[in-house]
Amino acid sequence: MKVITVANQKGGVGKTTTAINLAAGIAREGKRTLLLDFDPQCNTTSVFFSPEETESSILPMFTENKFDINGVIKETSIHNLFAAPSTIHLAKVERMLAGEIDAPLKAKKTLARLADAFDFVIIDTPPSLGLLTINALVASHFVVIPITPSPWALEGVQDFLDTFKSVKEMFNGTLEILGVLITLFDSRTVLARDATNEIKAMFGPLVFNEVIHRNIRLEESPAYGEDIFGFAPNSSGATSYKKIVKEVLDRASK
Ligand SMILES: Nc1ncnc2c1ncn2[C@@H]1O[C@H](COP(=O)(O)OP(=O)(O)OP(=O)(O)O)[C@@H](O)[C@H]1O
Ligand SMILES: [Mg+2]
Repeated sequence: MKVITVANQKGGVGKTTTAINLAAGIAREGKRTLLLDFDPQCNTTSVFFSPEETESSILPMFTENKFDINGVIKETSIHNLFAAPSTIHLAKVERMLAGEIDAPLKAKKTLARLADAFDFVIIDTPPSLGLLTINALVASHFVVIPITPSPWALEGVQDFLDTFKSVKEMFNGTLEILGVLITLFDSRTVLARDATNEIKAMFGPLVFNEVIHRNIRLEESPAYGEDIFGFAPNSSGATSYKKIVKEVLDRASK
């Protein structure tokens, strides 16, 4: 079982869009995949669950010992894609865990109990470097960092890299950056191209070859409770995320 976290503390860079379509794309390749939502905004959750279905959520992962996550996992309408709902109450986790010595290890302990029930677990994270994101990184083998090529794209990335390094040193020595994903690319602007070059200069070969362009279908699909492959299989968003899925599977299996 490989665990991949999608993270960047900057808001609106395409974390959720990437987590959903990466998980769905991997599932569509025949791998049993679990999608988890560590963001109290619950954007990922709302694509696959109605509000009534979120009463039992992954919250006890952070608040109870020996939580059995199997009880809240369900198969989605996409074959091989499983998900577990989150709730806005995740916002309380930071406060509830303050002072607990194993606060960063809660997710890792819960996922350890899944053993090899899944080939991949994909975790969406909030736009912050708090305990929820740290729990995701501690529990993961890899992190995918979506970055939007705007003039301030790299602002804050150093803070993320500092957190990544601390997690690696203190809790998870084998954590690796699987790749940096350029998202919401607007080919009409020179700014986007300049920012892309800056991102490539900073991350070199870690940047995935495929770039996700701005695509209206990607923005629409969550509202219909669908991934991009089901919603608009011939869109540029589907074509690009399919290529990213392939790059991710190639890199994760090395
Ligand atoms: N390639 C794209 N083309 C068009 N719209 C996109 C694309 N990627 C994401 N979006 C839209 O941009 C907005 C932000 O994307 P998303 O929610 O994935 O970012 P996020 O990093 O998860 O945000 P947050 O930090 O708030 O969790 C959403 O409305 C989403 O539908
Ligand atoms: Mg999000």
